[in-house]
This record gives sequence, C-alpha cells and structure tokens, in this order.
Amino acid sequence: MRVLITGGAGFIGSNIAKSLQERYPSSKVYVLDDFSSGHFKNLLGFKGEVITGDIRDAELWDWITKEYEFDVVFHKAAITDTTITDQRLMMEVNAESFRHVLRAVLSWKAKLIYASSAGVYGNVPPPMREEGELKPENIYGFSKLVMDRIATNFMEKYPHIKVVGFRYFNVYGQGEAYKGKSASMIYQIYKKLVLGERPRLFKWGEQKRDFVYIKDVVKANMLALEKDVSGIFNVGTGTARSFNEIVEILSRELSIKTEVEYFDCPYDFYQKYTQADITRIKEYLGYTPDYTLEEGIKDYLKELSSCL
Ligand SMILES: NC(=O)c1ccc[n+]([C@@H]2O[C@H](COP(=O)([O-])OP(=O)(O)OC[C@H]3O[C@@H](n4cnc5c(N)ncnc54)[C@H](O)[C@@H]3O)[C@@H](O)[C@H]2O)c1
Repeated sequence: MRVLITGGAGFIGSNIAKSLQERYPSSKVYVLDDFSSGHFKNLLGFKGEVITGDIRDAELWDWITKEYEFDVVFHKAAITDTTITDQRLMMEVNAESFRHVLRAVLSWKAKLIYASSAGVYGNVPPPMREEGELKPENIYGFSKLVMDRIATNFMEKYPHIKVVGFRYFNVYGQGEAYKGKSASMIYQIYKKLVLGERPRLFKWGEQKRDFVYIKDVVKANMLALEKDVSGIFNVGTGTARSFNEIVEILSRELSIKTEVEYFDCPYDFYQKYTQADITRIKEYLGYTPDYTLEEGIKDYLKELSSCL
C-alpha cells in the first residue's frame, strides 16, 4: 500500500503516519507538509519519505502526480488556527488546494480520507448531525464547509473513487504541543497547572465541547481505510463536556489545587457548545470511541509526564 499524508508533520497526520507504519509495516508512507504549523519532532520515529512543499502549488501537484502513484491519500494539511481572519488565505489553503488533491486522487484512482471540521456547524443546536444545518461562525469553518461541498460533488461525479470526510470535533492528545495556542484546552490547562499558574477560561467555563482523543481519531481513519465506504462523518464521542470539567479532571489527576481565572471572550465567532451525533459513523464505519474524557486524559498524561 502506497500512502500520501498531507499535513503529516502535524498533530493528526503524524499520528496516522506512525499508526500506518505499525499496522502495515510493508506499506510505503509519504508525508507532504510545509512545516507551517507542523513540526519535525512529530516525525521522529517515522521511517517514510518527507516531501516539503505547499499544497497550493499546482506545479508541485503535477510533479507528485507524475512521479508517484498512491493507493490512499490522507489529506490533513490546512490552516488550523481558527482565529485567522484572512479570508483569501484561508480559502486558498483549505478549500482551493483541495481541488489539486482531488485531481491527483482521480488520476491515481486512490482512496481519499480528508479532514473537515465541526466548525462547519457553528452554533446550531446540539447534537450536530451531518445532514442538519451548517452555519459556520468563522472563515475556517466556512472553508471546511466548502471542502465538504466540493467533496460531495466529486463523490457524485466519480462514485468509483472512495472519499471519506471527517468532521473532527475537539481532538486532544500526543503531538498537539507544536500547535501552540491552537492546541486543545486540555493541553493548555495542563501546561498552566504544571507551571503552577492559574488556568484562564472564558467566563464562566461552562462552554461545552465534544473532546475526542487522538487514539479514537486514528481508529476512525483506520476504519475508513479498511471499509469500502464514501461519505462525510462526524468524529467525536457523542458527549459534550465543559472547560470547568477539564480543570477538575486534570487537577484531580495531577493532585494540584487551583483556582480558575475567568475573563471575557474576545471573539464574536465563538462556538459555545459542540456535541457530535455519531450515529452515522457508527452505522457506516462501525466506529465507537474507546476513550471517555477521563480515560483519554489519563492516557495522555502518561505520555505527557514522560516528556517532562
Ligand atoms: N485538531 C483538531 O481538534 C481538529 C478539529 C477539526 C478539524 N481538524 C482538521 O484536521 C486536520 C489536521 O489538524 P491538526 O490538528 O493535525 O493540525 P496541525 O496544524 O498540527 O496540522 C496541519 C498540518 O498541515 C500543514 N500545512 C498547513 N498549511 C500547509 C500548506 N499550505 N501546505 C502543506 N502543508 C501545510 C502544517 O504544517 C501542519 O503540519 C486539519 O485539516 C484540521 O483543520 C482538526
């Protein structure tokens, strides 16, 4: 199996790369990344080839298409800082580049598994359903919605090519540290606690998110690889948990007492409550999450403490 992972130096992409290497030792895995938010340290232990380049570059895609042949493409490269407001940049990197990916996939007759986002839902009433209302609050969410529409049209036009889109909810786990301020709240709060600082939350910490552990996200990607299915699916746990609960769990696990500092949310495009309806992914891919928030944090802390 020959696999291309765009965004493979990033959090999710590097975990997929390493998992593929373990599960399919005879596969040839290639990473394409421009290292804008990814990090080489995520790829320590990865034995495949790395192509350094920008997914917006049409000439690069022409060369890759001619030079290589892939059976599967995991497309994870994107601007992942959801606070970026440069609309043109966000649309070019996330949405327009997707057309290059699709053209390459078509020429190779490869399977495509790409990253969309729960950002497509905005503040619609939870739980969020794939076929429900889509009202992104920011240009990041909009760029992912445009990707989903491009993918849907592609699936209709080329039904023989399998395409799976994943609307990830809030992913946390090993490999996210290099995302800086875009890393999960679990990582941000963990860092504050171990530094002896007070965690800072938007007033009053009751905003809820569907936090999904990286090992469950990798599991979903592996299921998509194995199954002969096309479609767009939510990837979450099906449960929403508050930021205050994260502080409670981490304080308990780390035996650190703390008081939260609450401050006003500076964004007018903030998602207040996300919760995935995971009925569809259960039905079509046989996916169920293995980790509750408590279990995921416990597992993650083992990895984080070994890095201290
Ligand atoms: N982590 C989450 O909670 C989450 C939630 C929803 C959706 N997603 C999506 O999942 C995918 C992976 O996210 P992540 O959390 O691993 O983020 P990440 O920032 O760690 O990974 C993105 C990778 O893409 C690369 N990249 C960015 N622009 C590029 C370009 N123009 N050309 C080539 N490479 C480029 C970056 O260097 C980075 O390695 C993204 O598409 C993201 O939108 C993630």
